Amino acid sequence: MPREWDAKTYDSLPLPHLQWGRRVLGGLDLTGKETVLDAGCGTGRDTAALLDLVPDGRVIAADGSKRMLEQLRVRLADRLDRVEVIEADLTQPLPLEGEVDAIVSVATFHWITDHASLFANLARTLRPGGRFVAECGGLGNVAQVSAAIEEVIGEQEKVWYFAGVEETRERLEQAGFTDIEVSLRPDPARFEPGEQLWSFLATVILGSHLDRMPEAEHEQFVKAVAARLPEPVVDYVRLEISATRA
Ligand SMILES: C[S@@+](CC[C@H](N)C(=O)[O-])C[C@H]1O[C@@H](n2cnc3c(N)ncnc32)[C@H](O)[C@@H]1O
Repeated sequence: MPREWDAKTYDSLPLPHLQWGRRVLGGLDLTGKETVLDAGCGTGRDTAALLDLVPDGRVIAADGSKRMLEQLRVRLADRLDRVEVIEADLTQPLPLEGEVDAIVSVATFHWITDHASLFANLARTLRPGGRFVAECGGLGNVAQVSAAIEEVIGEQEKVWYFAGVEETRERLEQAGFTDIEVSLRPDPARFEPGEQLWSFLATVILGSHLDRMPEAEHEQFVKAVAARLPEPVVDYVRLEISATRA
C-alpha cells in the first residue's frame, strides 16, 4: 500500500511540482465537458486547475494517502460537487464506473515500481482515444541525493523507480497506448540552505527512508543527507509522458 504523507507541511513548501503540474496540464486539449482522472492527486493543486479546465465536466482525484486526500477536501471544500475523491492504490483496479476521457499524473509514478501493471491499469480506465499526460522522476533523478543517502546509511532497498525513455515507451505500447512521446528533462531545484532544504527533503523526498527508522533519528538523518549535497539543490530529472489510448 502507498505510504502516508505530511500533507500540511507538503503544501507549505516551495514545490517545483507546481511548474511540473502546469506543464502536464498544458499537454491536454479539452473541450470542457470531460471527466479527467488525476492519478496521485496529492493535496489537489492540479485537481483544482483541472476543474477550471472542465467547467462542464468532472475530475476524479485518486491517491493512496488519507492525509493528502483530507487536505485536498479542505482545498476544494466549495467545489467538491464536481470531484470524486478516491482513496486507491493506482496499481490495483480503480473503483470507477465507466471510463474517463483523460488521465493526468504529476510526481507520482516513481513511487510505484511495477510500471507495466500501473500502465495496464490506467489504460483499462481510459476510453479509446483518451489522452494520458504524466510526469515523474526518471532515469538519473536525484542521483546526488541518493549518493548522499548511501553515504549516510549505506546501500538500501530501493524506494523509488526511475524509469528510462525506451523501457517506458515499450511498456506504454504493451499497455495499449499509441502516439507515444517520452522524454527526460533535467530540472534541478534550488532551496534555501537550512530549514527549507531540511523540510523539503524530509517531507517530499526522504519519507520512505524515515518511515523505516526510529523518530529520534529523523532529524540527524535529514541533516546528514543535506550536509553531503554539493549545493542546496535537488538534482531532479523528470520523465515526461504523453500518449493516447488506442
Ligand atoms: C509527490 S506526491 C505528488 C502529489 C501531487 N500530484 C503533486 O504534484 O503535488 C506523490 C503522491 O503519489 C501518491 N502515491 C504514491 N504511490 C501511490 C500509489 N501506489 N497509489 C496511489 N497514490 C500513490 C502519494 O500518496 C502522493 O500523494
